[in-house]
Amino acid sequence: MPVTVARPRELRGEIIAPGDKSVSHRAIMLNALSHTGTARITNFSPGADCTSTVEIFRALGVDIARESGRDGMGDSLTVRGVGLNGLQEPADVLDAGNSGTTTRLTSGILAGRNIVTILTGDDSLKSRPMGRVVDPLRKMGAEITGRAGGTLAPLVFYGGSLKGTSYQMPVASAQLKSCLLLAGLRADGVTSITQPAESRDHTERMFSAMGVKLAKNGLELTLEPSDLETVDIEIPGDISSAAFWMIAGICHPNAELLVRNVGINPTRAGIITLLQQMGADLKLVDQREVAGEPVADVLVKSSQLKGVELSGDIVPLLIDEIPVIAVAAALAEGTTTIRDAAELRVKESDRISASVSWMKGAGIDVTATDDGMVVIGGGSIGGGQFQSYDDHRLAMSLGIAGLVSDEPITILDPDVAGISYPGFWKTVERFGGLVG
Ligand code: S3P
Repeated sequence: MPVTVARPRELRGEIIAPGDKSVSHRAIMLNALSHTGTARITNFSPGADCTSTVEIFRALGVDIARESGRDGMGDSLTVRGVGLNGLQEPADVLDAGNSGTTTRLTSGILAGRNIVTILTGDDSLKSRPMGRVVDPLRKMGAEITGRAGGTLAPLVFYGGSLKGTSYQMPVASAQLKSCLLLAGLRADGVTSITQPAESRDHTERMFSAMGVKLAKNGLELTLEPSDLETVDIEIPGDISSAAFWMIAGICHPNAELLVRNVGINPTRAGIITLLQQMGADLKLVDQREVAGEPVADVLVKSSQLKGVELSGDIVPLLIDEIPVIAVAAALAEGTTTIRDAAELRVKESDRISASVSWMKGAGIDVTATDDGMVVIGGGSIGGGQFQSYDDHRLAMSLGIAGLVSDEPITILDPDVAGISYPGFWKTVERFGGLVG
């Protein structure tokens, strides 16, 4: 059912960011492969994507128990590791739903096992590029087929024995990097990977905590085959979910929001650097460390932003936040130019086309480019009825646009927010923004 969001008179209060999606996927997968016991994972992401990972590893024979969380905290899970060679052949096709992270990381785990597995997902997932993981896995010796020559899911993994490789990544993708690191755990020989730019490093951090022999030299990672030791993990809050509230608090004319428990790992925190560059009143409060990841509370207040150039190495550090950054850019004084973000075209939707389409409909001066967009800010955001093209981050960006715009915004397909943040619309309602 559609929802309509209008700007409340004020936006004040506290929000607890839900558990990080990227860290949650990895906490399940890596502990499933560990050989020393049972891990406890707390504040697990409530989104459907991470449930896809849980279900896939259960289907592969891993014992995972899940308990609902209380008081705004995410669920708690226990995962009993089966060791690097302990996964069982599943009785059916493995369904990753909408989750690119599940698909690409699990591909690195399934490659080169002596079991046959088929990995698929929803229509969006089946249109996303998989050649980027299949090509290097084949180079390592994996036998994989799939639609369109193995470039699209469903993908079929037949086994084969893996050998270490030296690979220059064509894109700064944490999913590709993590896929190859996971494959390298069981390969014969060393795997070395060179990244074109830094991307989120949660796999590397968790590997270090689990005793994996991984060395980092600038953008090069060198991995020796290693066993994993079980670790308990408290998942930090998801900065990609928190970003919606940071931008709402900054762009609303009468606002002060404290977003609590936000993971500020430097490979994820590009949004904080960018908003400060744009002139936002944003402070990090109570910086601390949770399970090897830096965490803080983020305090934001109404601010007049200025346009910026967003390009280069910062792009992978805020890639998922660009649809909501576009909302901030529309209200900033001057021009915001986003470049080097062609990856947006192959996310859950083509996020350049989808963002530009609703923004034009809301009267914003915006032009799509091959690898980004140019937003002439300083105007207002008009109202209208828009669709998110089944993309959770588009749906929530539209919700935030409604909270800060002059006229109400109707989101035709809001439920897709549940992919990463099922509590999102409830929070919009709590702030008085839900009018229909
Ligand atoms: C993710 C990596 C990013 C990001 C995605 C989650 C991860 O994708 O967009 O939402 O958990 O590794 P790419 O690595 O493909 O850029």
